[in-house]
Formats: sequence, C-alpha cells, structure tokens
Amino acid sequence: MKFSVAALSATVAALASGAAAQLSILAPGGPDLWWIAESDNVVTWTCKTSPYTNFTVLIANSDPKVLVAPQAFISQQNNFDCSKLITKDQVNMSPATGYTIQLANPFNETDVYAESQPFEIKALGAAYPASSATPTATGSATGSAAGSASATGASASTTSASGSSGSNGASGLSAPGTLAAAAVAAFGLMFA
Ligand SMILES: *[C@@H]1O[C@H](CO)[C@@H](O)[C@H](O)[C@H]1NC(C)=O
Ligand SMILES: *[C@@H]1O[C@H](CO)[C@@H](O)[C@H](O)[C@H]1NC(C)=O
Repeated sequence: MKFSVAALSATVAALASGAAAQLSILAPGGPDLWWIAESDNVVTWTCKTSPYTNFTVLIANSDPKVLVAPQAFISQQNNFDCSKLITKDQVNMSPATGYTIQLANPFNETDVYAESQPFEIKALGAAYPASSATPTATGSATGSAAGSASATGASASTTSASGSSGSNGASGLSAPGTLAAAAVAAFGLMFA
C-alpha cells in the first residue's frame, strides 16, 4: 500500500473539517508506536470526538496462531480518561506483529467502535517509542497530529514499508485509527 502526498493531505483536510468527530485510537498502532512485552504500555484515544461514554478494550491479532480471538482486558473503560496505562498483568502477549487494539460496545464486543492500526509487540528489552512520537490525547485528533509532526519526519516512508510488507496495511487503512496516523505521516511529509 502506497500513500501519496495528495491522498495524505486529503486525509488531513478531512480531519480538520470534522471527519474526526468519531472515536479513533492514537496509540499504539503503525510502525512508530509499538508495545513492549512483559512491560507497562499505554492506549491513547480521541476522547473528545465521539459520543461513547465507555467501551470495552480488547487486543486482537490478524494471525490466529498468535491470538485465536480478540481478548478483552478492560471490560468498561471510561472515555474521559483519554489514555490508560496497561500493566503486564492485564495484557501479557507474546512478541509478534499484527496486533490491534479495539474499543468496543461494552454490551457486545463484536460491535467494534474503533480499531488501531496494526502494531508490533517487541520483546522485553527493546526501547519504547520516543515519547514525542506518541500523540497526546488532550487535543482533538487534528491537534494531536499537528503536535507530533516534528517527531515523525521518517514515518511516511516507514508507513509505506509496513503497508507493502504485510496484509495488515490495507485493512488498517479503513480503520478510524488510521486517520490520525495518516495525518501524522502527512504532516511529516509536508514539513520534511
Ligand atoms: C457505558 O456505555 C453503555 C453503552 O453505550 C451505556 O449504556 C452506559 O450507560 C455507559 N455507562 C456509563 C457508566 O457511562
Ligand atoms: C453485536 O454486534 C455485531 C456487530 O455490530 C452484530 O452483528 C450483532 O448482531 C450484535 N449482537 C447482538 C446480540 O446485538
């Protein structure tokens, strides 16, 4: 999957014009925002742009050999928290690629409100992503994307690389969470 500058700019424009008025997962997801196995990790979402007051948080993997079915690890998470520290006692998955985080209807976990871009869980000992690469949850999706633009100069090229190396990139494109990541990549391109 290849991104063009024009397509990414269109995504940014769509975000800015109100298409972001929904729930999306800002982190983890994509090539720059991974998790570390056997460690504390963070989920961050757009908490000012959706009608949902709470949701169930699940982790899934596109490869059934890694994870047969999405696994809920928070049954009822308040939207207004904006982000949540996840301990290794809540999620202790094996290192692998292809994971996604899902925010779902608390009464029906298959009714997924938002799904992250695919991300990797790296082995214990790997470095965390740079904190500057993680969008903040305090602003809108648009503000977050702009705020992290300086940290993501390289993300546009890595996004293309990951998209072409697996089947996850294509499916991830339709996920709401991808909008913010694509916008970040677009800002990286525009300010590079
Ligand atoms: C949690 O979300 C459900 C479904 O949207 C809603 O019915 C319920 O009132 C919410 N609970 C709280 C405590 O906000
Ligand atoms: C749960 O959500 C899925 C997806 O939206 C839907 O197809 C299914 O009918 C729902 N199940 C119930 C019991 O409402």
